[in-house]
Amino acid sequence: MMNTIFKRDILEGLNSAPKQLSSKYFYDEKGSEIFQEIMQMKSYYLPGCETEILTEKSQEIISRLPNPTYDVVELGAGDGTKTALFLDALLKSEKTINYLPLDISPEILEVNKDFLIEKFPDLNILPIAGDYFETLEKIKPRKNPKIVLFLGSNIGNFEGEKAVAFLKFVRQYLVKGDLFMLGADLKKHPQTILKAYDDPEGITKRFNLNLLHRINRELEGNFIPENYDHYASYDPLSGTTKSFLISKIKQNVQVGGQAIDFEKNEPVHMEISQKYNISDLIQLRENAGFKTDHHFTDSQKYFSISLFEY
Ligand code: AVJ
Repeated sequence: MMNTIFKRDILEGLNSAPKQLSSKYFYDEKGSEIFQEIMQMKSYYLPGCETEILTEKSQEIISRLPNPTYDVVELGAGDGTKTALFLDALLKSEKTINYLPLDISPEILEVNKDFLIEKFPDLNILPIAGDYFETLEKIKPRKNPKIVLFLGSNIGNFEGEKAVAFLKFVRQYLVKGDLFMLGADLKKHPQTILKAYDDPEGITKRFNLNLLHRINRELEGNFIPENYDHYASYDPLSGTTKSFLISKIKQNVQVGGQAIDFEKNEPVHMEISQKYNISDLIQLRENAGFKTDHHFTDSQKYFSISLFEY
């Protein structure tokens, strides 16, 4: 089932002009490992900034939560290390909380739960595996006020209006007074941003090429990954980072029983990572139908955790 959707999306992308492959398929086991390496890179400033905000500003964020009880719902929860900082502050603030980590990967939810149970033995943790739609449907009947976390600049992978559409989609699962907490990467010196996606060690290149390995394995492909370069760009006007694979030679590849031709220097668009100004975030909040916003930033103003109330 998953495999047929994967196959359809990959072939559709490779048959488009320009060619594209969706970054949502980066995260197989190996891809998730390489992403962990990216998060350790000095030039990849995002996790450090977000951690600083959660360490320094969680109390201030929590002071804006009017209810004594919350379901803390986390979209794409991952391993829970950053979330622990926020949960710790919530528990110290004497709020009663349930933590509901949602993630596509049941394995990472195991890691998340083991880590957080050890840290907070009394915390009620209810992991739910599945895509955004399935998992949000499951939490829908719950009556507690909600705060939905969407951290790590994951919003950046949604292009333009799709970011608004995603927030509107999540909003359907909220009631008035519920909160949405968004981690977003801010516009800054273009060189700083470009370096985060264009490391000299080639880790980001490996991250992109890994999808070719995945296609080879899962869709009987015969990509020769060494035949592709990684190219990253940042446009300071739009705030959009894009990454591409570039075919180094004219070549022909088989994927899922189809032949795909590449010209020499032909780009394959892989990922967008959108950067925001606070004013862009306010616009996003308005367009998505949320009532108020508050923004919490790190000392360098590189990253924002923005709190939207429905
Ligand atoms: C996981 C989507 C936040 O766009 O910064 C890191 C993924 N891609 N380096 C990002 C990524 C290349 C990352 N997000």
